[in-house]
Amino acid sequence: VESVIVAIDGPAGTGKSSTSRAVAAALGLSYLDTGAQYRAITWWMITNGVDVDDPAAIAMAAGKPAIVSGTDPDGPTITVDGVDAAAPIRTPEVSARVSAVSAVPEVRARITELQRSIAASATGGIVVEGRDIGTTVLPDADLKIFLTATPEVRAARRSGELKGSDVAATRDALIKRDAADSSRKTSPLAKADDAVEVDTSELTLQQVVECVVTLVEEKR
Ligand code: C5P
Repeated sequence: VESVIVAIDGPAGTGKSSTSRAVAAALGLSYLDTGAQYRAITWWMITNGVDVDDPAAIAMAAGKPAIVSGTDPDGPTITVDGVDAAAPIRTPEVSARVSAVSAVPEVRARITELQRSIAASATGGIVVEGRDIGTTVLPDADLKIFLTATPEVRAARRSGELKGSDVAATRDALIKRDAADSSRKTSPLAKADDAVEVDTSELTLQQVVECVVTLVEEKR
């Protein structure tokens, strides 16, 4: 395979972003964080007064913001209507709202189309991370990985990233978000039948990266 497409899915806190970026950098591939796109559309809705408790209002606004993702694994970027959104999309408020916004079919249809066009134009290949990449967005990906870890490990990793946050509260928020993402009707968080599952609970980031790089090299 000349231009390799890698799909990396899994719940929050399994190391998807760190792994995906490191794998893309090691192999000279582009990188796309699809969670950042759902966060960006959620942030735009909150700041533009869209009622994010109302799926009909979300559906009506789904096409409005212009979302642009920069795909360099050494410095991925995201802008919304030309504004740098990298920091505001990581707030607890956006994290708490993003599952409801991303469950709306009109939002998914729009973001999925954007993701497919970015993947198609990434000439050397791309690592795409998310929840439904292997099942829905890129079902023909050359390699599909599904990362898992215990809730305790995931919460500890996430609270290490968000300095000063409480592990128990982080764990509850993660579990709630995963339950919402896994139970929605349109393209829920799920392992594709042909995905390789990697439990990262007992592994270092470097070990997970080596494992995925080896799997990609077997496909090339
Ligand atoms: O990856 P991250 O945790 O930043 O994703 C934020 C949220 O975006 C997820 O909890 C989920 O609701 C949504 N998402 C999605 N489909 C994807 C990626 C993210 O629905 N492919």
